Amino acid sequence: MALLKLENITKTFGGLMALNDVSLEIEHGELIAIVGPNGAGKTTLFNIISGVYRPDKGKIIFEERDITRMPAYKRAPLGFGRTFQIPRPFNSATVRENVAVGAMFGSLAGKVSVDDSLEIADRYIELVGLEAHKDKEAGSLTPVEKKMMEMARALAMKPKLLLMDEAMAGMHPKDIDEMVRFLKKIKEKENIAVVSMVEHVMRAVVGLAERVMVMHQGSKLVDAKTEEALTEPRVIEVYLGRPPDESK
Ligand SMILES: Nc1ncnc2c1ncn2[C@@H]1O[C@H](COP(=O)(O)OP(=O)(O)OP(=O)(O)O)[C@@H](O)[C@H]1O
Ligand SMILES: [Mg+2]
Repeated sequence: MALLKLENITKTFGGLMALNDVSLEIEHGELIAIVGPNGAGKTTLFNIISGVYRPDKGKIIFEERDITRMPAYKRAPLGFGRTFQIPRPFNSATVRENVAVGAMFGSLAGKVSVDDSLEIADRYIELVGLEAHKDKEAGSLTPVEKKMMEMARALAMKPKLLLMDEAMAGMHPKDIDEMVRFLKKIKEKENIAVVSMVEHVMRAVVGLAERVMVMHQGSKLVDAKTEEALTEPRVIEVYLGRPPDESK
């Protein structure tokens, strides 16, 4: 059974077709990167999956349940977790409290006490390597530490599907490598599927994704294993704006 199925999703804004008949299937525990040039429709797709936008046409199926019309807040308890491009911590709360919020509002919502959620928070804080900071105010963390805290909060939601919005943009290569190692470890341990929207962080795509979906002008151009997708002539053409050099 697929974890998530998008069937023929179309989304327009005014006269502009941001997504044109896009279908995608994601299995449990899969690591997928969605890439494409500016305006390709990546963020729109992300917002359709997370429930921020409704599609004009098409269906979204999560574990065989039709969630096309379900609002975002109802999706979290089913097993959706997400990180934001710009982390939005509660700056004056501690790291521990920030992460505990994930446990309270994720798939365990209504099933855990405050004490339980603080315990869950401790587990993920340790996993992302922030133990030494757990009682500090979130506002005092460095940007990379904030991203790791954001990750701990998303994981504390106990998601089956983790949506990462540009989580590695602007990071130092060393930190990207660390994040990639971390996500692989998470996949092994918790069987979480990760869908990562990455703009220009090819290092992360190659290091992380097992599969890449390349978008172009609202359509799915290629959906293949990472090595295949990134050497596909149509993809090279879209990125370089010309056909690939065939003499090589
Ligand atoms: N809320 C909106 N209202 C109107 N047009 C929108 C809206 N959101 C996106 N669009 C348009 O839809 C198209 C796809 O945009 P989207 O943001 O999904 O692309 P993207 O692949 O995320 O691009 P980028 O790499 O620049 O982030 C673009 O032409 C964009 O201008
Ligand atoms: Mg975008």
